[in-house]
Amino acid sequence: MSKHEKIEKNIGLMGVLIAVVIGFAGVIEIAPLMTQASVVEPVEGLEPRNALELAGQNIYVSEGCYNCHSQQVRPFVDETLRYGHYSVAGESVYDRPFQWGSKRTGPDLARVGGRYSNEWHEIHLIDPRAVVPTSNMPGYPWLAETEIDVEETVASMKVLQMLGHPYSDEQIANAATSIEGKTQLDALVAYLQDLGTAMPKRYQ
Ligand code: HEC
Repeated sequence: MSKHEKIEKNIGLMGVLIAVVIGFAGVIEIAPLMTQASVVEPVEGLEPRNALELAGQNIYVSEGCYNCHSQQVRPFVDETLRYGHYSVAGESVYDRPFQWGSKRTGPDLARVGGRYSNEWHEIHLIDPRAVVPTSNMPGYPWLAETEIDVEETVASMKVLQMLGHPYSDEQIANAATSIEGKTQLDALVAYLQDLGTAMPKRYQ
């Protein structure tokens, strides 16, 4: 029996060899990326989100905004004309979990920061059709009446610090007082207004 025949007739051995080949190819593809500065280092000026913005990010995730919105401008002319400079990996190093996504029932939000006023966002989130009559985005009126969970936000800052986000102990100590009494709507708007703003101006 030739070696090839042996492998073909032994599904266990074939499975192991397939795993070895895929594992090897995976390492070759993935390992170099882990050392590339443009992929693992934050873009100039990027800061981890402050307590209010972080609370907003957690609300964005828990409300499932990512089901209709991506946060990744792809490098195509139609996208960069509409949204601005394409997204680079270094912008997302402090996003855990990252929100790139690919589902776009609504527009991409990677560069929405600064595009509208806070007031526009507040009205839009409570009742999208008040500002965009044809919108099929659901309203989130309860955000304006619900306060941020302060303890949860401070806990998530601590976890992120443990994972390597450069929060100072002082920032964490002051976090609770800085978000005390703020609503979920305040937090979500602060988060949206921060999206895409760290990208150095020279690129935009
Ligand atoms: C069912 C799909 C859907 C969901 C869920 C959804 N959106 Fe939207 N969103 C849309 C659509 C469609 C538009 C475009 C019409 C409009 O502006 O309302 C939009 C527009 C927006 C815009 C304006 C973007 C721009 O550049 O004009 C923002 C900001 C936004 N959504 C934020 C959110 C946030 C935050 C959440 C979660 C709380 C959310 N959306 C959930 C569908 C959705």
